[in-house]
Amino acid sequence: MRLAGKTVLITGGRRLGAKLAILLAQRGANLAFSYHTSPDGMQSVVEECRLAGVQAESFRADLRNPEEADLLVQNTIARFGSLSVLINLTSVYTRTPLDTLEPKDYYEAIASNLSAPYFTAIAAARAMRQQPIENGLQGKIIHFTDWAVDRPYRFFLPYLVAKGGLVTLTKALAVELAPTITVNAIAPGTVEPAAAASEQKLERIRRSSALHRIGSADDVNQAVLYLLEGTDFVTGEVFRVDGGRFLGATTGDV
Ligand SMILES: NC(=O)c1ccc[n+]([C@@H]2O[C@H](COP(=O)([O-])OP(=O)(O)OC[C@H]3O[C@@H](n4cnc5c(N)ncnc54)[C@H](OP(=O)(O)O)[C@@H]3O)[C@@H](O)[C@H]2O)c1
Repeated sequence: MRLAGKTVLITGGRRLGAKLAILLAQRGANLAFSYHTSPDGMQSVVEECRLAGVQAESFRADLRNPEEADLLVQNTIARFGSLSVLINLTSVYTRTPLDTLEPKDYYEAIASNLSAPYFTAIAAARAMRQQPIENGLQGKIIHFTDWAVDRPYRFFLPYLVAKGGLVTLTKALAVELAPTITVNAIAPGTVEPAAAASEQKLERIRRSSALHRIGSADDVNQAVLYLLEGTDFVTGEVFRVDGGRFLGATTGDV
């Protein structure tokens, strides 16, 4: 798919999402992106996208609510006239040790990390299916899951369960929407770590990753670009972009 002139909707335009919006704007896509509780910085992303010569707009939405997910898609189409790509980054990452887990931790993790992308993907897919088929495609959907779905660590049980559900959502939707809409997922390792992450923790991550480094937003966003512009022949796939963290440390001979 060529991005020039297409409309891309990014949900969760904060860290990776903001950089992704600018990268895709530079490829000529018109950009809609959503935020929930952090409006700060959204206008500067809109302006940076517009400097690339495309149209851009940010929208507030609480995507745990299916009506707001529908409205976000409707507003995007009302503003730009079509929707070719949905990229679902919506997520809340909360430490929830087992001993203090409460039912609300589970419900909140599922709502933000699974229900939100689920509702948004269905709303977007229904809209995409109204559009003409171009080069065999009506649209593309990309979800963001997590490398740790395949090798879980402790203290994030509800988050990991929700991200695991997102993998199944990716594969099941790929079947539902074939052959004209592709659905894939990216599973990042640690990239653009939060400012609060200690150097000790970051060093532990580097040491436990085959490539011995923390990733950048660009490492992940280039994989998104590949799924959008590099190939139209992949669907139902999950791409781990984790610097080999899944493989663990490489320690030479066994
Ligand atoms: N960064 C990493 O190291 C890493 C590692 C593994 C997986 N991932 C995955 O990659 C994706 C992007 O990561 P990131 O670091 O850029 O995430 P992030 O900075 O935490 O951004 C998450 C986004 O989700 C939005 N969001 C949360 N709840 C929402 C709701 N109810 N309705 C609408 N939007 C909501 C937030 O909006 P507001 O801020 O406006 O509330 C924010 O824009 C996420 O799915 C994350 O799980 C990231």
